[in-house]
Amino acid sequence: MIPKETVSQIIETARIDEVVGEWVNLKKRGANMLGLCPFHNEKSPSFTVSPAKGIYKCFGCGEAGGSVNFVMAHEQYSYPEALKFLANKYNIEIEEEEQTPEQVLEANAKESLFIVSDFASNYFHDQLINSENGRAIGLSYFKERGFKDETIEKFKLGYSHDEWTNFTDAALENGYNLDFLGKTGLTIVKEDKKFDRFKGRVMFPIQNISGRIIGFGGRTLKADKNVAKYLNSPESDIYHKSRVLYGLNLAKKSIISLDRCFLVEGYTDVISMHQNGIENVVSSSGTSLTTDQIRLIKRYTQNITILFDGDTAGIKAAFRGVDMILEEGLNVRVLAFPDGEDPDSYAKSHSTDEIKEFLDKKSFDFIRFKTNLLLEETGDDPIKRAGLIKEIVSSIALIPDPIARSVYLQECSNLMDIGEQALLSELNKIRRNKLTKKIQQQERDQGRDEGPPPEFFHEIGLPDEGERKGVVNVIAEQEKDIIRTFVKYGTIEIDIPTNPDAAKEEQEFIKATVAEYLVYEIEKDELRFDNPVFNKVYSLYKVASEKETQVEEKHLVTNEDKEISSFTIECLMEKYTLSLNWAEKHKISTLTEDLILPKKIHKGICSWRLNKVEQLIDEKQQQLKVKDADYGVILIDIMKLMEAKKKLAHELGRIILH
Ligand code: CTP
Ligand code: MN
Repeated sequence: MIPKETVSQIIETARIDEVVGEWVNLKKRGANMLGLCPFHNEKSPSFTVSPAKGIYKCFGCGEAGGSVNFVMAHEQYSYPEALKFLANKYNIEIEEEEQTPEQVLEANAKESLFIVSDFASNYFHDQLINSENGRAIGLSYFKERGFKDETIEKFKLGYSHDEWTNFTDAALENGYNLDFLGKTGLTIVKEDKKFDRFKGRVMFPIQNISGRIIGFGGRTLKADKNVAKYLNSPESDIYHKSRVLYGLNLAKKSIISLDRCFLVEGYTDVISMHQNGIENVVSSSGTSLTTDQIRLIKRYTQNITILFDGDTAGIKAAFRGVDMILEEGLNVRVLAFPDGEDPDSYAKSHSTDEIKEFLDKKSFDFIRFKTNLLLEETGDDPIKRAGLIKEIVSSIALIPDPIARSVYLQECSNLMDIGEQALLSELNKIRRNKLTKKIQQQERDQGRDEGPPPEFFHEIGLPDEGERKGVVNVIAEQEKDIIRTFVKYGTIEIDIPTNPDAAKEEQEFIKATVAEYLVYEIEKDELRFDNPVFNKVYSLYKVASEKETQVEEKHLVTNEDKEISSFTIECLMEKYTLSLNWAEKHKISTLTEDLILPKKIHKGICSWRLNKVEQLIDEKQQQLKVKDADYGVILIDIMKLMEAKKKLAHELGRIILH
């Protein structure tokens, strides 16, 4: 038990901004500090820390609390564990009151795994430095690799003897429980037999973000091809490979201050780079790169550079990494090392300045990287070239931020010497397909209770968000669809639910024509059409609706205004001749299914509205760029529009899912 006075001392000392700041990159915003929430995945920061109040709160996911809560939530510690962690951080001594046997037992299994791992790390390191074989075999190997003493200390490198139970015996002698040795994977326990997993290997301990040992990588010193070069700890309650980055605990400060993270292949790359003055380096260990790992990096920086050796396997992994990083909304650069080199070998044979310059000069954004690489293969072959363009555009399509997307599209257009419009329509196609798949998946999952995921709102109806030309195109299509609906189905009478949210059996309806309903929806927000012809057609319907009369087909097709007549004729031709009419296209089996038609109309109008709001936001954003713009006023407008957008996206999500 930690005495009460010590608990209060810890709580008073542990400043919230310092504690949170250890994991989250916080920026000052007025009296508060703001960063990306470590508890949920978000693109713009809503995680707020109030140093004055000593609390944090995420406005995205609702997580909130003080310093101790933060450490508990973040490191999944128990209350006493979190207190001990903070006490350690602030050099506060804990004189523990005596624990009852139950409490000792309770000092939970997880903590025991940490303790066993810590022992193992110390043991392996001690054997490396102080045992005869350790020095002769392990230490000399590291020296040969060029690792200095201080590097070996810093990374707590070790040696595991080439004997079946050397480590396990030592651990048992020191009172550690075989059960925990087995659970960490340090000892392989089979029936009544047990032996060391890492027999005859040099050891790379893996630390979590706060520096506790959670697992190991071991490299064999045998040349035998049948022996795995690297062996890793298995998954355990404290070691989840997909959520760990090797070196992150040592790299995080440097990542924050340099605002960039280098991603390398493995242990030796991280270590060599560190030794040669580059500290913002991490690698995944025992897995290929995962989304969780990218999110770990995202807490500290938006910029990742992938470093890899230029062999085929390396390139493949880099391609995959690039797409995953883009999808998380981060900026990615890529650097391929020349033949036979990797970060480890390169760092060893160059000075810090040379390495820094190399990293700076030889890394490319992903488009140049892909282009450079693939152009070698494709040459002038137009078909292969088209393939390359698709390949690049499919990566761009993954980027969540529309503005970044259009920037990259422009770059691709310049590099490949192809019109932006063509690229844009390819990109839109990809994003629309993805969106359709997502919606279908949603419908399949029937995830009605949870509602759509945030990115769904972001996407819905906005396949071209932000790319002005694209949005304009979509809007034009949507407007056309709406006018077509007027012309083709305006006189059909439908039942409109008065409260779309109510349950089916409690639903109340009013009767109206499609035209009346459309006019009502459009007037609600005083929407107007971008296309002047559509506005003219619409005003006929609006006037008719006010007078409670109908617009007759005859009146349209014989209209004295040539533009009105030719457009409406086109629509009606479709209605009577084309088999693929609007209804079929929208999967309406019969138009008298009046429950569905209102919904389709509502949806059409809603996505149109949403796009219009998008367009306005875009315009406002452009206005911000103008010199001497009235930022205050524009920003307020943007915020209002964002609010409207959120509501619309929500409404649209509801229409589609229900
Ligand atoms: N790696 C791994 N598993 C393997 C091979 C490599 O996890 N089977 C990781 C390791 O983290 C290693 C990094 O990739 O540090 C670099 O690989 P490699 O160069 O093959 O390892 P080295 O130990 O540097 O071997 P060599 O001395 O042959 O270069
Ligand atoms: Mn190597």
